[in-house]
Amino acid sequence: MPAELGLPTGAGDAGWPGGAPTGRHPGWPARLGPIAVGAGLVELRPPRLFDSSAWSRIRLRDRLHLENWEPTGPGRWEERNASMSWPSQWWALRSLARHGQSLPFVITVDGELAGQITVGNVVRGALCSAWIGYWVASHLVRGGVATAAVAMLVDHCFADAGLHRLEATVRPENAPSLRVLGKLGFKQEGLFRRYLDVAGDWRDHLCFALTVEDVPTGLVNRLVGQGRARIP
Ligand code: ACO
Repeated sequence: MPAELGLPTGAGDAGWPGGAPTGRHPGWPARLGPIAVGAGLVELRPPRLFDSSAWSRIRLRDRLHLENWEPTGPGRWEERNASMSWPSQWWALRSLARHGQSLPFVITVDGELAGQITVGNVVRGALCSAWIGYWVASHLVRGGVATAAVAMLVDHCFADAGLHRLEATVRPENAPSLRVLGKLGFKQEGLFRRYLDVAGDWRDHLCFALTVEDVPTGLVNRLVGQGRARIP
C-alpha cells in the first residue's frame, strides 16, 4: 500500500474489500441502498439537474426546520433555495465530486427526494479523511432516514472510496443530530469553539468521528442487527 499513491500506510485491505480504490474520484458516482426503515425505503443517488422543483419545494417549506443548523449563506433564504438557484448548486456539487473533493448525494424515500447527504473536504494522502453532513425533510423526521443514510454512506466511504476517517460537527443544541450520531457509534472527540457561521453567528460545535477500525463489519450490518433497519 505505497504512501506515494496517496493511500494510507498500515491500513491493510481491511477497509477495502474490493481492493484499494482507483480512479480520480473513487466512490462517486454511486447508488446506495435501498434499506428499509420506519419512514420507507431509503436510497442515495447523485443529485440531478431535474431535482430543482422537489428540492426547492421542501427547502422553502422547511426554513424553520433547517436554518438553525446550516452554514449561513449569501442572500435571503428564499433566493438561495428557489428552484432557479439549484442548477448552480448542482453544478458546483458535481464539479467538486469530479475533482475527488466531495461525494454529494440526495436521499430518497420510496423514490421521492427526502434530503441531502454530503461527504466534503476529502483529503487524501496520509489523512484520507472528510466530513459528513445531512438534512432530512421535516415530514419524514423520526423515521430512521438520516441514520440509514449516514450508515450507507459511511460504509461506502470506508469500503469503496478509500477513506479512513469521517468527522461530523454538530451544534450542542441539535438533539436529533446528536442522536443520529449516537445511534451509529460516532465518538465525541471535542468541542470546536465558535467554529461555524450558522444562522448569522459563530456557533460552537461538538466534533464526532468514526474510523474504519471502529466499524469492522459495517454500520448497515450493525443497524440491521439492532433491528433498526432491514435489507429488502
Ligand atoms: N430530542 C432528542 N431526540 C430527538 C429529538 C429531540 N428533540 N427529535 C428527534 N429525536 C430523535 C428521534 O427520536 C430519533 O431517535 P430514535 O430513533 O432513537 O427514536 C433520532 O433523534 C433521529 O433519528 P432519525 O430518525 O434517523 O433522523 P431523521 O431522519 O429524523 O433526521 C436530522 C435527523 C437529519 C437531524 C433532521 O432532524 C434534520 O434534517 N434536521 C435539520 C438539519 C440538521 O440538523 N442537519 C444535521 C446538521 S449536523 C450534521 O450534518 C453532522
